[in-house]
Amino acid sequence: MMDSFEFNKIAMAVLGTLFFILSVSFMSDALFHSSVPQNAGYVIEAEDDHGGGGEAVASGPKYEPIADLLATADLAAGERVAKKCAACHTFDKGGKNKVGPALFGIVNKPMANADGFSYSAALRDYGAGKQWTYDELNGFLWKPKSYIKGTSMGFAGVKKVADRANLVGYLRSLADTPAPLPGE
Ligand code: HEC
Repeated sequence: MMDSFEFNKIAMAVLGTLFFILSVSFMSDALFHSSVPQNAGYVIEAEDDHGGGGEAVASGPKYEPIADLLATADLAAGERVAKKCAACHTFDKGGKNKVGPALFGIVNKPMANADGFSYSAALRDYGAGKQWTYDELNGFLWKPKSYIKGTSMGFAGVKKVADRANLVGYLRSLADTPAPLPGE
């Protein structure tokens, strides 16, 4: 939502621009005595193709649950998916923070809790009192910036549910004592 302050700023910017354009055209009129042609320009006939068809509006949940897939997750496949994360994250025990926080033992860990990592305000606010449950990881890894607006994790997400399940299964395995599977 745009608050009224935001709106005012935009309105001022628009007015400022209009005023600038008007003054420039006024000045150039004055300088060059240009006259506006009677039949200025041409008319663009826009074709209206909004009749039928159109995009199907997705209904239902935007990302599929992984809970039922975790028990049979393919960890080797999950490790391959995790290569996408390795530019920014370490996965080994005692691994350091890089661009993103260290991820060893992330399943069921409190959110925004890696020592010495400077989290975005968005993740700190969202994560207050929460843990990285399977559900939370599923939503976040599906589309980080939609799931937690304002997160600084610059990663588009893992769209395929099977890839996410394998990935989260792999993340689960990276712990001294892997978290129980859903329903265990
Ligand atoms: C381009 C760098 C980058 C990539 C690629 C990336 N991340 Fe991140 N990740 C970050 C950053 C930065 C944060 C901190 C986000 C914040 O503070 O909002 C983060 C945060 C996280 C968190 C929250 C950790 C915590 O301590 O609360 C998880 C979980 C996570 N990333 C998992 C992944 C996984 C899994 C992948 C690969 C599928 C991945 N990330 C890919 C940069 C990245």
